Amino acid sequence: MASKASNVVLPGRVHSRISKELQRFNSNPDFGITLSQRPSELHIIDATIHSLEDSPYEKGVFRVLIILHANYPFEPPQVKLVTPIYHPNIDSAGLICLDLLKSPPSGTWRPIHNIATLVTSLRQLLLAPNPSDPLMPEIAKEWISNKSAFEAKAREWTRKYAYGSLSNGKEQNYCSSLCYQLSETLFNMRGKLLCQGAEAKIYEGEWLGKNALVKHRFSKTYRLAELDSHITKERLKNEARALTRCRMVGIRTPIVYDVDFITSELIMERVENSITVRNLMYKYAEDDICFDDEAVPMASQVKNLATKIGSVLSKLHKNNIIHGDLTTSNMLVVEPYDSSEIILIDFGMSSMVEKAEDKAVDLYVLERAILSAHPKSEGFVSILLEAYEKSGGRAAADTITKLNEVRLRGRKKLCFG
Ligand SMILES: Nc1ncnc2c1ncn2[C@@H]1O[C@H](COP(=O)(O)OP(=O)(O)O)[C@@H](O)[C@H]1O
Ligand SMILES: [Mg+2]
Repeated sequence: MASKASNVVLPGRVHSRISKELQRFNSNPDFGITLSQRPSELHIIDATIHSLEDSPYEKGVFRVLIILHANYPFEPPQVKLVTPIYHPNIDSAGLICLDLLKSPPSGTWRPIHNIATLVTSLRQLLLAPNPSDPLMPEIAKEWISNKSAFEAKAREWTRKYAYGSLSNGKEQNYCSSLCYQLSETLFNMRGKLLCQGAEAKIYEGEWLGKNALVKHRFSKTYRLAELDSHITKERLKNEARALTRCRMVGIRTPIVYDVDFITSELIMERVENSITVRNLMYKYAEDDICFDDEAVPMASQVKNLATKIGSVLSKLHKNNIIHGDLTTSNMLVVEPYDSSEIILIDFGMSSMVEKAEDKAVDLYVLERAILSAHPKSEGFVSILLEAYEKSGGRAAADTITKLNEVRLRGRKKLCFG
């Protein structure tokens, strides 16, 4: 599916057409579906399909994402089934094989159709799969040759993804309004909101049965819509790419499970029993463990932490990965903290660059972040940089030389504004 992400500005005629469609729908809702427009992203409709009695999907509530574009209704919207489903015509990414979703000659979409007819047709497809035009040939084969095996798996998936996650395992008799509320909850996200930063919200969730986090980059209304959409997509791409590259070169980062450019979400491994290095250092500070040799010699676990950070960053830069936002909040450790490896996160600003200058700026950002977040941490920073240089060879030494230049420039900037 092409990526028409984030805050798209639609022409007025499209807006009024959508409003009319939704008004008409809400005054006389179709059975088994709900539609709701996102208040902050008017080109996105969140739909749900439910009440699929007499099918393996009964009791399931399936979330559907509908993205409208400037040429609607002359071209069909983009539609994706967000809830995983075991179905011959819907693949693991939620792409749907349905004639109504394509314009002629390959499809049957016409401007007289609307969002409600589309979702109703999709609901019909869930009730009556079309194995002669499959997107998942193996599932279609099973549907034809071994219906009971198909049904058992479809029920299992429904229980796991469409039913359990919404109703917490309790049976629900979904009425339209309840379903609406539930779909909102599910959309707003796949679990508990863990934290919200300047650019993203992090939710707890489940991904194919695994504990996961959903990092949703929301749109920034103060940015031009097109620019915002471009930046969001770039950050998402940077993050997924760097997280994966790090793992390839033996640096511990969360596993990337999925990247969705339509919803601007990155789904990744949730690192269990983790805290940020920032919080670990606060814990040390509470226990009167200091980050400098000034009064008492630095404790071994603090030296050890600084050394581990220096070494992992050296490896990062050796592989020409620039993090772009190095702070102690973007590093995790797991229990038992003192012997944990460093897990790097938050790579939205990352880049792949070979130059010592960029690596030095990366270190400079970290140095400033540590010194401002953790008082009297000069000794800690020194050990970190020593370890960086020691484990990085010639290139690391060049980066440290550059770091001195960057510091000087930084100081001049601070002095003269
Ligand atoms: N994969 C993960 N496992 C566990 N905690 C995480 C993970 N990713 C992020 N976090 C937690 O969420 C916080 C914010 O995530 P981050 O990716 O740094 O987003 P932001 O761009 O908002 O800073 C982190 O400081 C960390 O506490
Ligand atoms: Mg962060």
